[in-house]
Amino acid sequence: MLNSEKVIISSLWLIMSCYSASSQNLNYFEHIRPIIYENCVPCHQPGQAGPFSLLSYDDITIRSKMIQYVVRHRYMPPWQADPDYRHFLNERLLTDAEIDLITEWISTGMNEGNKTKESLPVKRLYYRTVPDLTLTMAESYDIPNSNTDDFRFFHLPMDINELRYLRAIEFMPGNRRYVHHSRMMVDSTQNMSGIDGMSEFDPKVSEFQKTPLADEFLYGWVPGSFPLFFPDGVGKRLEPNADLILNIHYSPTGRNQKDQSTVNFYFTNKPVKREVKTLILRENDIINQPFYLPANQISNFTMKSEVLEKDISMISVMPHMHFLGKYFESYAVTANSDTIPLIRINDWDFNWQTMYQFTHYLKIPEGSVIYAKARYDNTINNPMNQFIPPKNIGYGWRTVSEMMNLICYYVDYKKRDERHYFSTDID
Ligand code: HEC
Repeated sequence: MLNSEKVIISSLWLIMSCYSASSQNLNYFEHIRPIIYENCVPCHQPGQAGPFSLLSYDDITIRSKMIQYVVRHRYMPPWQADPDYRHFLNERLLTDAEIDLITEWISTGMNEGNKTKESLPVKRLYYRTVPDLTLTMAESYDIPNSNTDDFRFFHLPMDINELRYLRAIEFMPGNRRYVHHSRMMVDSTQNMSGIDGMSEFDPKVSEFQKTPLADEFLYGWVPGSFPLFFPDGVGKRLEPNADLILNIHYSPTGRNQKDQSTVNFYFTNKPVKREVKTLILRENDIINQPFYLPANQISNFTMKSEVLEKDISMISVMPHMHFLGKYFESYAVTANSDTIPLIRINDWDFNWQTMYQFTHYLKIPEGSVIYAKARYDNTINNPMNQFIPPKNIGYGWRTVSEMMNLICYYVDYKKRDERHYFSTDID
């Protein structure tokens, strides 16, 4: 036997013996707690979005069947993008091995193991450094005491009269339990202050939606989201005298709750070498018009970009639809007919939409075209349908209407960009 074969066989033996030893005394403190702390506790701890805490052994054992179910069906941790299509930097997924371990531990009696006092680190989602600009909602908002969702717009003037470049943005929900998601927009016309506090069911919203915004989707946040941040030397332009508009979705509360959320901006301190640009595909880019969803039908639409005139390096993508959306897929087709997958969401969930950051600069060569395809289910088979019987639905910002957008952040391509991997270390 060759020496190298001996090494392989003996290391295989070592791996196997370790595995059987660990499966014999599979226990909470050694095996399960680290997985839960890494993947569940960021949301499931007091004051966060998860409806209960998962910090202790008892927290897990009293809901073990439910945990087994949500983990096996990949309902938790919430993550929409299909990992067989593309992986992302901010991915939140359990591996098959982790799911097997949790399932096996629960079915074999949930051995606690040796208690350790040592506390485990919980993934940090916010910067430690002081932000350059903090914008807070002018007043605390009383979330209606009701069993329906509430969608509101808030207007936050920035009072910056010079051009700045953003290197990072973070959203801090005032009420971590009931702020379900938040979308940030930038207006540079100074015509939007009247939208402050407006419910999206207010018909006046349709007037505001006519204003061309500087950024329709600066950043989309859901519980557990990372801040959006750009690589060194790269920044996103923030026009002087611009205003921030927040569109916040509140979950039903059933008791009096307040929210006063904050957005933190971090500016670049050096001049940027490359400016972050936005490529948006929207309803006008649909090639099978009109964008109209007849009642009791499933509708499919395809959007198509212009041909790219130069090489670009993509940083992030964010698909956007409302409650009738079911499926979303986007890819680039190069001049040589190669396909570059961007994102695929097989089971769209309005409540968990967010921005997806690529693991590295994704080069899309000159001559490519970007496509996005979406499917909408406006039948009674869609549990998210707000109208029973279904109604005909057209375009609009309000969640009773529909949208189809793809927002990509990119910079102009620079040699070797594709070798540049982004880091999740935030300081
Ligand atoms: C990004 C935040 C987040 C993470 C990470 C997360 N959860 Fe949740 N979880 C929630 C929220 C919010 C809800 C309640 C709303 C819902 O069910 O969508 C929830 C609901 C649940 C429920 C109840 C489901 C039901 O149908 O009532 C279970 C069980 C659960 N989570 C377990 C877990 C486990 C186990 C993990 C880790 C493997 C985890 N969660 C990770 C946010 C999170």
